Amino acid sequence: HGTMEINEKANLEIGGCEVTKIAEEYGTPLYILDEKEIRDNCRAYRQAFEEWYPKSETIYASKAFMSMTMCRIIEEEGLGLDVVSGGELHTALEANFPVNKIYFHGNNKTPEELEMALEAGIGRIVVDNNYELDLLNSIAGERDEVVDILIRVTPGVEAHTHSYIQTGQTDSKFGVGIQNGLALETIKRAVNLDNLSVKGIHCHIGSQIFNLESFGLAVDVMLDFVETVKDEVDLVMEELNLGGGIGIKYTEEDLTVDIEEYAKIVSNAIEEKCEELGIPLPKVINEPGRSIIGTAGSTIYTVGSIKAIPDIRKYVAVDGGMPDNIRPALYEAEYEAIIANKADQSPDEVVSITGKCCESGDMLIWDIELPKLESGDILLVSCTGAYGYSMANNYNSLPKPGVVLVNDGQVEEVIRSETYEDLVAKEEIPKRLKSN
Ligand code: LLP
Repeated sequence: HGTMEINEKANLEIGGCEVTKIAEEYGTPLYILDEKEIRDNCRAYRQAFEEWYPKSETIYASKAFMSMTMCRIIEEEGLGLDVVSGGELHTALEANFPVNKIYFHGNNKTPEELEMALEAGIGRIVVDNNYELDLLNSIAGERDEVVDILIRVTPGVEAHTHSYIQTGQTDSKFGVGIQNGLALETIKRAVNLDNLSVKGIHCHIGSQIFNLESFGLAVDVMLDFVETVKDEVDLVMEELNLGGGIGIKYTEEDLTVDIEEYAKIVSNAIEEKCEELGIPLPKVINEPGRSIIGTAGSTIYTVGSIKAIPDIRKYVAVDGGMPDNIRPALYEAEYEAIIANKADQSPDEVVSITGKCCESGDMLIWDIELPKLESGDILLVSCTGAYGYSMANNYNSLPKPGVVLVNDGQVEEVIRSETYEDLVAKEEIPKRLKSN
């Protein structure tokens, strides 16, 4: 992926930097981000939509990986930003991300978060439900403002992906249903509220999707709804946010999605449908997360104990695991790996890569063919850029790994690794329990 190469020393390089050297300098486990790959992925979206549907905006879903450095890169590449919490918003603001290009999502934004968003003057609030509609209207009223919103709807389109990351179906915690009439009710309610202005609708049908036709289906349902709203409420909604969800190739079994193909399918579906319905072409927003950062990230580990159970399995343990990558345990997600210091060697044995947590489910990869592994080897698991660091936790009190950015032979630490001190820094022992 990206700028990965094998050098003359049989050592893996990313961004022109030798992976074993990075491991030596910054320690393991560690996330490595390939800056060029991030930028290339951003450009793929911009160029594809420039060509197929220029009346559009691509915004990065920061839940996939959020940091101030990432915000800077995203801004430089001309993308907007999707945030889902006060925390993500704060990070974006700290990084001076242009507020008018920030969209605020989430199914349960608190009054404080909404207040914070209005105070910052961010571009769009994507309202998820009636409770939030009334809450936002009253907060905006107190501030004497009219706030531009999108309404999150569920189009009833089921994307073929893991059920935990399917979101477009009517039985979902997100959004109001088009098919059961609730979305129309919400919009009728919204247009009667003085401090909100409905600019459009949003849907997100799921994540890690390969079947691009699902997006075409979503477009049809969404635009039919735009037409319904026009007829019933006399409101022409100009913005159509189609969410994210494009899949990436984690393993040989996954497909590669051509972003241009995606842009083409979406654009054709919109143009055909708008013509059929006689409605103006909307502004389209797409919100990729995984397909921007996924292939740009890797995690490196040091191999420790290796245990062969005769005739059953060989467990190779690394110094991280489910705290830095919970996706295999949570979604049965699959990954590829390479031994960074033996990058030119051919596969020799089938092993399973496990983490160091006290839990049998703490597996990173089941049954992978790799060259002969030895303790001390540096193992790189690829495509961990999305939902790796952002879902990391401190289970078993493992400090969170840091993040380095590589590009053109340079390594920069953009998030430092946590220390043991960090783990106890927020704690306070009640006085009566103090021993001295
Ligand atoms: N927009 C909205 C409203 C979303 O909810 C999401 C992801 C995205 C955009 C970006 O989707 P992407 O392009 O990254 O597929 N933790 C799971 C993925 C959860 C996705 C949640 N929403 C995983 O590790 O697979």
